[in-house]
Amino acid sequence: MDTFSESAWAQSDFSKKYLDRADIYIPQRRKMIGLFSFLLTCFLGDRKEIRLLDLGCGDGVLTAELLSQCGEGRTIIPTLVDGSADMLHRAGDRLGPSGIITYVNASFHEIISGMTTLGDFDLCISSHAIHHLEMNEKAALFAFIFAHLNAGGCFINADVVLPPSEGLQTCYFSLWKSEMQQMMEKAGITDETPTEVIKRYQDPASMNRPDTLNDQLDALKKAGFRDVDCYVKDGIFTVFGGRK
Ligand SMILES: C[S@@+](CC[C@H](N)C(=O)[O-])C[C@H]1O[C@@H](n2cnc3c(N)ncnc32)[C@H](O)[C@@H]1O
Repeated sequence: MDTFSESAWAQSDFSKKYLDRADIYIPQRRKMIGLFSFLLTCFLGDRKEIRLLDLGCGDGVLTAELLSQCGEGRTIIPTLVDGSADMLHRAGDRLGPSGIITYVNASFHEIISGMTTLGDFDLCISSHAIHHLEMNEKAALFAFIFAHLNAGGCFINADVVLPPSEGLQTCYFSLWKSEMQQMMEKAGITDETPTEVIKRYQDPASMNRPDTLNDQLDALKKAGFRDVDCYVKDGIFTVFGGRK
């Protein structure tokens, strides 16, 4: 069932607050974004033309990073997808009007079900978006991505994962809280606390449906990916993926 329109992400106030504070809510976000350029070079070498798919692009931060860090000497042709028209407008403001860039306003459900056609790609990226899907939907999206990657292509996903035990959840939330506390103090934020952010993250209304890293790596392998691994991990925050 397509629940995007019922989710908090369909409200522009919610998405604006996320964008304003994303680097605080996800303390290692900038480091993780930087890793995408490194992995692109590792996996795709000096491929001269790269068709790029950014799923749940938000304001286009990931695509912007790849265009600025890896765009020299090659052509990157991005397609940015998001369920929120507001987010796509922000991505357009950041990256410029369509031309070589395609903006697609569609939910993951529309993509999985084939209601929206996107084409084939050399690299699929996503950041903190796929955890909004249930595990069976994540697996279906991974299978879709595999089917639409060209040979040698790869999928890189930065996302929150479900800790495999309660003990580890306590440990990872404590790490998250302490990292966020430092960032909030540095930024002079006094109108919300790390505890409130963590509570909001756990609220079912937020539509967060994290699954364990192992379940997701298994789903990638089952979809046919190779070199499946978690490339970086900071408590519940990970960057993982695979190659075709
Ligand atoms: C946490 S934001 C991440 C945005 C961006 N990738 C980033 O890292 O800053 C999640 C994004 O996923 C989009 N999103 C959430 N659920 C979605 C769904 N079911 N289908 C399509 N987009 C979705 C939201 O609109 C939002 O732009």
